[in-house]
Amino acid sequence: MDEVATSLKPPDGVVRGGFRSQVPAIRLRGNGGKPGVVALVGAGPGDPELLTLKALRLIERADAIVHDRLVAPEILALAPPRVLRIDVGKARNRHTLPQGEINAMLVRLARAANRVVRLKGGDPYIFGRGGEEAEALAAHGIPFEVVPGISAANGIAACAGIPLTHRDHAQSCMFVAGHLKDGRMELDWPALARAHQTLVVYMGLLGLPQLCRELVAHGLPGSTAAAVVERGTTPRQRVLVGTVETLPARVRAATLEPPTLIIVGEVVNLRDALACRSAGAEAACIAD
Ligand SMILES: C[S@@+](CC[C@H](N)C(=O)[O-])C[C@H]1O[C@@H](n2cnc3c(N)ncnc32)[C@H](O)[C@@H]1O
Repeated sequence: MDEVATSLKPPDGVVRGGFRSQVPAIRLRGNGGKPGVVALVGAGPGDPELLTLKALRLIERADAIVHDRLVAPEILALAPPRVLRIDVGKARNRHTLPQGEINAMLVRLARAANRVVRLKGGDPYIFGRGGEEAEALAAHGIPFEVVPGISAANGIAACAGIPLTHRDHAQSCMFVAGHLKDGRMELDWPALARAHQTLVVYMGLLGLPQLCRELVAHGLPGSTAAAVVERGTTPRQRVLVGTVETLPARVRAATLEPPTLIIVGEVVNLRDALACRSAGAEAACIAD
């Protein structure tokens, strides 16, 4: 096995956050000058047991793992001790590493390592910027594969006792990103305010009051059920249920913190009958 030393400096020469500690001399297995393979791997929504078998196999064989903040520590612990781990995790307003630098890092690691795992919360291609990373790898001729993960929407809803679709209540389901741009949420409100559909909002906690106001202004009854799930699928999961009218005040009073997922629609009403009666769902019932 030949060894390759690489400085892994990002293109602008700036070294930030967890990346700093990995520089200056990272030693990885070389591959006879050929680039390695990058796997963009979904780690699921929080519960480590929701990892796929394919993800586990790739983690166990990785030379380097580049991971996000929301990846469960139990999943990172599945990697052998020799693996190079780089935390590029992002918290709201505290970006550890800009996306362009993460892309450049993946390219450099792939050129130096045999097997790179880019481990992302949920699914890599759902609000995870996996598409941008795949584009960067393709542009540099780096072979890559994508391993789907259980996304926050379907994983958290199921674990919280909320079926996202149901023949009697919701024939469609929309996933949207609710983060604020210049203090505003720019979404297609008429499409989101339709009846008989479920709306799932990622990254929407700060904008929740605006979200609820706009939905009502665009025709959704204020009595429509809505829930916020904090740290879904983990032992610290909290679920707050209300209506589009009452939820913002309830969330303020409960001081929820990210990561949170918002679910709006009639299907939220099914939770009473489903959540507390499904085995192992005690954590889903604590905060109502
Ligand atoms: C940048 S997005 C990444 C989504 C991820 N790629 C996926 O497929 O779930 C992060 C957002 O997903 C949601 N999220 C992820 N994990 C969560 C969890 N355990 N509980 C609640 N929300 C979660 C939150 O809205 C969080 O702000």
